[in-house]
Amino acid sequence: MIICKTIQEIRDSVDKLTSTGGQIGFVPTMGALHKGHISLIEQSKKTCKVTVCSIFVNPNQFNDKGDLARYPRTPEADIKMLEDAGCDIVFMPSVEEIYPKDDTRVFDFGVIDKVLDGAHRPGHFNGVAQVVSRLFDIVKPNKAFFGLKDYQQVLVIKKMVEQLHFNIEIVACDILREPDGLAMSSRNTLLSAEERKAASLIPKLMQEAKMLSKSVPLADVKNKLLAEVSTNPLLKADYIEFCNADTLQTITDINAQKTICLAAIFSGKIRLIDNLFIN
Ligand code: PAJ
Repeated sequence: MIICKTIQEIRDSVDKLTSTGGQIGFVPTMGALHKGHISLIEQSKKTCKVTVCSIFVNPNQFNDKGDLARYPRTPEADIKMLEDAGCDIVFMPSVEEIYPKDDTRVFDFGVIDKVLDGAHRPGHFNGVAQVVSRLFDIVKPNKAFFGLKDYQQVLVIKKMVEQLHFNIEIVACDILREPDGLAMSSRNTLLSAEERKAASLIPKLMQEAKMLSKSVPLADVKNKLLAEVSTNPLLKADYIEFCNADTLQTITDINAQKTICLAAIFSGKIRLIDNLFIN
């Protein structure tokens, strides 16, 4: 596996590995890799000749500086996991390499970046669009792979690709979960044993949402789930919402709409997200 730190290095490496043609698959990450990330590498390897992974903790997408400071960083373990998975190139740039000067671009993706995490983490998706568009310009992939765990992010990236006319296929990949159902996340390593135990309620809430919504009005389901969260002193709901899966508009009636339940819940100080299609 080739390890690149600079834009020049990554461009040269990609050119070299694709000199006889073939598609480039790209998996952008912030590191602290787990099996969820590796599943994206595997998806890329299935259809692309060259797989590139980036590891960059993007300061522009953290509205909470404490969250940025405590974000886990495990570069050696990440390199080993990527090597074992058969990744061809890893790009690990510095902040100066990605942002030689401030990125002042302001994106507007309509409703999609204003609700849910967009409302609760101001500036977050603008920062995501800034870094991913930079990375797309640098790596120039044919396909890019994103996890459905960050459902709203997938919609934001698709809109960005459309607005900036990138000729890149966005492939959305399934959520990988721990045996108790908790969605794998780099942030899970930050949970204490008690917080980790409490967090196992989150996927259960998603399943409950799916079950109950068959017979109970969504507003009542939401209140029931919020009440369940509040019984555990370690947990605090940022939001639990039922949305149209295409537009992210809040819905009250699941009939005739593709509906997704999305939640952001704190376990201790750690904010975790999850989602599930419910019809
Ligand atoms: P990060 O949180 O490191 O996630 C990188 C990619 O891995 C994202 O597409 C995310 O949805 C996917 N992923 C994370 N956990 C997953 C799981 N349990 N199952 C499947 N896929 C999973 O998302 C980001 O980084 C950043 O916002 C980034 C796009 C890199 C821009 O900085």
